[in-house]
Amino acid sequence: MSTPRVAILISGGGSNMVALVRDMQAGGYAQPVLVLSNEPCAGGLERAAELGVPTCTIDHRDFVVRTDFDDAVDAALRDAGADIVCLAGFMRILGPDVVGRWAGRMLNIHPSLLPKYPGLNTHARAIAAGDAEAGCTVHLVTAALDAGPIIGQARVAVEPGDTPQALAARVLEKEHRLYPAALRAVIAGAPTPITA
Ligand code: GRF
Repeated sequence: MSTPRVAILISGGGSNMVALVRDMQAGGYAQPVLVLSNEPCAGGLERAAELGVPTCTIDHRDFVVRTDFDDAVDAALRDAGADIVCLAGFMRILGPDVVGRWAGRMLNIHPSLLPKYPGLNTHARAIAAGDAEAGCTVHLVTAALDAGPIIGQARVAVEPGDTPQALAARVLEKEHRLYPAALRAVIAGAPTPITA
């Protein structure tokens, strides 16, 4: 049986994408077939190419109608023969139609312990709330933002005097372990949720 084909959507540096690609390449349990960015200048595009993964850019600014962007992304994913899609620092919200077409097969990583702090500025919000713990969550993507079924979470302590940047850096290290572990669990059909 051939291994699942995985596409990864990015908007920036792509460190989570690199962690996913390296884990797939080392473990041989899945094949990274496409890294797609909505940002032409995303640093992750070069990093993906260095890892030997095909890349493409679909700039959301080229589309007047939002669903046309969604459809172009969907077409690229289908052209690549993707079975699973991982959103990894992908900063566009995909509409319900395309999300529905990938139901159960589209994952996202979010830098908070969902259901706490969906959306942006998660680390600043955790610090402002006086939380003792922060972390990250991998979940299935549904039409509701950052609200799909949780696949796994990883936690870090919030330290006295933490800044959002310092906390983000520690959470990002956890993200790099959690996301590959969560992808492996999904592909293995393992019981969820997991921690890493
Ligand atoms: C990560 O913290 C991810 O959880 C968030 O944006 C950041 C992307 O980092 N959504 P990278 O592009 O994977 O380095």
